[in-house]
Amino acid sequence: MPDAPPPSVDGSAHAPPEPPIPTDLAAIRAPVADELSAFRTYFREAMRADQFLLDKVTQYVLRQKGKRIRPLLVLLSAQLFGPVGEPSFRAAALVELLHTATLVHDDVVDEADERRGVFSVNALWKNKVAVLLGDFLLSRGLLLSLDHQDYDILHTLSDAVRRMSEGELLQIEKSRLLDIDEATYFQIIGDKTASLIAACTKSGAVSTTDDDTAIERMRVFGEKLGRAFQIRDDLFDYAGADVAGKPMGIDLQEKKMTLPLIYALREAPSAERKRILKIVKKDDKDRSDVRAVTAFVKTQGGIAYARQQMTTLAAEARACLDDLPPSDARASLIGLTQYTIRRTR
Ligand code: IPE
Ligand code: IPE
Ligand code: MG
Ligand code: MG
Repeated sequence: MPDAPPPSVDGSAHAPPEPPIPTDLAAIRAPVADELSAFRTYFREAMRADQFLLDKVTQYVLRQKGKRIRPLLVLLSAQLFGPVGEPSFRAAALVELLHTATLVHDDVVDEADERRGVFSVNALWKNKVAVLLGDFLLSRGLLLSLDHQDYDILHTLSDAVRRMSEGELLQIEKSRLLDIDEATYFQIIGDKTASLIAACTKSGAVSTTDDDTAIERMRVFGEKLGRAFQIRDDLFDYAGADVAGKPMGIDLQEKKMTLPLIYALREAPSAERKRILKIVKKDDKDRSDVRAVTAFVKTQGGIAYARQQMTTLAAEARACLDDLPPSDARASLIGLTQYTIRRTR
């Protein structure tokens, strides 16, 4: 047991001690364990379908082990400001429904046959089914909010979905022209990923407080965290093997240039840049093409640069929590920020 702090000079009460920062997801989840099970009930109910094929596919998706980071962010952000109740559970279910819908669509767009370590929906049932399942999940999310008149939260989440679509389309535009710079990369990841994560932290806060300054700070926390989260995801593509339960090298295959490559190309001598761009432009890249680009990115310091940007963003995210009083929820959010940049899936 650590020693008790000495009595303060002016005799005022001490601030409560800072709880230890949890590092693994189970410990990070602990402060909202009960709330997470309430969320699961809403989520499962919203996935229920009467139609045979639809039911089969939704059950398949429900069995998958997603990390459920977004509902966790909603519930922890809510708990910072007050007791967590039904509106927070519904917000958590809504974000996971929207997230699941966008992943199902994303694997169609990216032609990815693996997700969460198993076959993607499009790989098993073809694109038609995946597109319609995504629409079904999206509509279930909208209905869940509308049925309870959660208009504020629905507005926040709808705006995130708009930004996600815009980010994905900008990414497609850039992968056709291959003229992406760092500023555009940050715009893309802000829109396609950080928008939803910021909507989680904001709507969590909205569900338990009216304090506009606090709500805005939680939104900014999510914007920073979300960018760090996507840089981590983009680094998986350079991991040298299939990790995170998704196919490796798929970004390159799709001509998707992410931060490690953008930086490496910018730093490289022009002959090298031309050689690598020629490979990136190829429609069908074999293993040696992927290896050549990966080696180039590493030598030019692209991995190290992306890691450094990610770490800075995580530190900026963490700083958004500095003024909050110590609590288990705050400690978990700090732990989740560290987990985001260290995670292996
Ligand atoms: C994947 O998100 C999509 C990105 C924004 C990179 P997660 O890594 O949270 O996916 P699951 O839900 O845990 O599978
Ligand atoms: C993330 O995009 C998915 C969305 C934000 C819609 P990616 O295509 O980069 O994500 P993964 O790697 O397939 O999960
Ligand atoms: Mg994608
Ligand atoms: Mg993808």
